[in-house]
This record gives sequence, structure tokens and C-alpha cells, in this order.
Amino acid sequence: MATKITKAVIPAAGLGTRFLPATKAMPKEMLPVVDKPAIQYVVEEAVAAGLTDVLMITGRNKNALENHFDRMTELESTLQQKGDTDRLSKVEFSNDLADMHYVRQGDPRGLGHAVLRAKMHVGHEPFAVLLGDDLIDDRDVLLSRMLEEQEGRNATIIALMEVDPAQSHMYGIATVEPTDDPDVVHITGLVEKPAQGTALSNLAIIGRYVLRPEIFEVLERTDPGKGGEIQLTDALQEMAENDIAGGVYGVVFRGRRYDTGDRLDYIKAIVQLAVERDDLGPDLRPWLQQFSATLD
Ligand code: G1P
Repeated sequence: MATKITKAVIPAAGLGTRFLPATKAMPKEMLPVVDKPAIQYVVEEAVAAGLTDVLMITGRNKNALENHFDRMTELESTLQQKGDTDRLSKVEFSNDLADMHYVRQGDPRGLGHAVLRAKMHVGHEPFAVLLGDDLIDDRDVLLSRMLEEQEGRNATIIALMEVDPAQSHMYGIATVEPTDDPDVVHITGLVEKPAQGTALSNLAIIGRYVLRPEIFEVLERTDPGKGGEIQLTDALQEMAENDIAGGVYGVVFRGRRYDTGDRLDYIKAIVQLAVERDDLGPDLRPWLQQFSATLD
């Protein structure tokens, strides 16, 4: 019987240089998306899919992440004394959301290197990896579908999404062949951030993976690739090419994804999420319409 997957790994050691100076003394994962730090959306997504054991790969300057998922006794008792139960429940929500674990990456040498830091914690079980720059709308299903596919195929599963070909140099790009399921493809090749105009498809890896533990052995022998970093995509390419541990399949996601990885996409993500909120949308929508009419 397949082991039930319970572990999620969230790499969060990046320096966030695209958001300087905001990220000088604060991790980029704590940047608010409306009123919640980006990282909390990702942990909530993992928990919603049943992954309650969360390992965060952090680095220097990341104490705020640990604090966010822990009690904040002074703040909690102040809110309690004021009888502000609404805010108190918002503060307390992230305390016990998941069983949180942390390991530091030391030298950030790429996403593959970050995932390798999870080896001891994960052991010999399949596990999920969620990248914090990609937020998946909680009304659309992705991770639980990937977990089902992993159980069914006992292979490695990655999330793919069709992107504008002009953007393909910003992603890992997959070449695929169809399966008998229209939402699932068999991966025949992967290239990390191909040079502009050279991508072999418009199917991009988005930051959700359900990996088999064999990935660790492959990562250990993966040489630095794009940008001099150990790339997870390169290790997955080897698994796909040599059909290691059942090969690699992709679940094609057609739902709503918000990118918070750079400043422009981050602003768009906040606006998109805020207009849908019951507490902010009704006031924000007409204001946005008026404001956009003033733009030429
Ligand atoms: C990483 C992966 C890339 C993937 C992307 C998705 O890149 O290396 O293959 O397409 O996440 O967001 P990053 O954006 O962290 O440079």
C-alpha cells in the first residue's frame, strides 16, 4: 500500500533581493499579501491538502518566520484583555496551523540544494515541495490532485501551467506526451529557464512538486546548472530521462495562480485577491474603476 503523504517542504532561504530595501531586515516570505504574510497562504494550502508536517528551509535573517508560526503571548494577552476576539483569532490561527520544523540552508546554493536539506527530515517517503512565490487560489484544486496522482502512479508529479511563450525563459519548461487523462502528461524532458526563443513548449513548472525520496540521491550527484546553482529541474530531468522511480508526470493546472516573486506581479496579486474579498472588494472595485479611468 502507498504511504500516505504527510510532509511538505517549503524552501524559504532566498535573499529576496528583488524587494530591497523592504527585505533588508525582513524575510520576503513575510511580505503581506493583503493582510496575511505570503508564507501563510502556502502553509494553509499544504494543511488543506492534509500535509500537516511542514519543514521550512530557512537561512539567516529568517527568525520572523518561526515567530509567525508560534505563540505571541504578549500580543495575545493584550487582545484578550481588550476583548478583541476577532483579531485574537487571526493572531492565534497560525500558532497551531501545522507541525512546523525548520532547518537552515547555510549557503544558499539553489533550489535543488534547498530540497536536499530536507533529506534527514523526510526519510524514505514521498513528500511535497511548495514554493512560496507561487500562490494557488484556494478555490481551485491542485495539490490534492497531485497527491492522488502520486499515490496512483507511484511516480514523481510536478505542476505545470501554460504560459505566454514570451515568459518561458523565466520557468522550468517541460516537453511532454499525453496520457489517457487530459489533465495529466508524461514528462519526456525538462529545461531550467531556456534562453529566450528556445523553449520547446509553453508548459512551465509552477512551484508545486510531489517528489519521491529517490530525488535526494539524484540531487546529490547533480552539478550546478543555470546560474551556477543546483537546480531541482535538472535532477527531475534526470529522473524523467532515465525513468528513475517511475519517471515524472505533470498535472496541468488551469486555475488561478498568483505570482508574488517580483514587484509587479506582487502588486497584481494583492489587487486580484483584494477585489475578491468581502471586506475590501465592495469598496475597492468602484475605486479601481474610477482610478483606471484616470489613466491614459
Ligand atoms: C523556480 C524553478 C523553476 C520554476 C519556478 C516556478 O524558479 O527553478 O523551474 O518554473 O520556480 O515559480 P525561481 O522562480 O525560483 O527562480
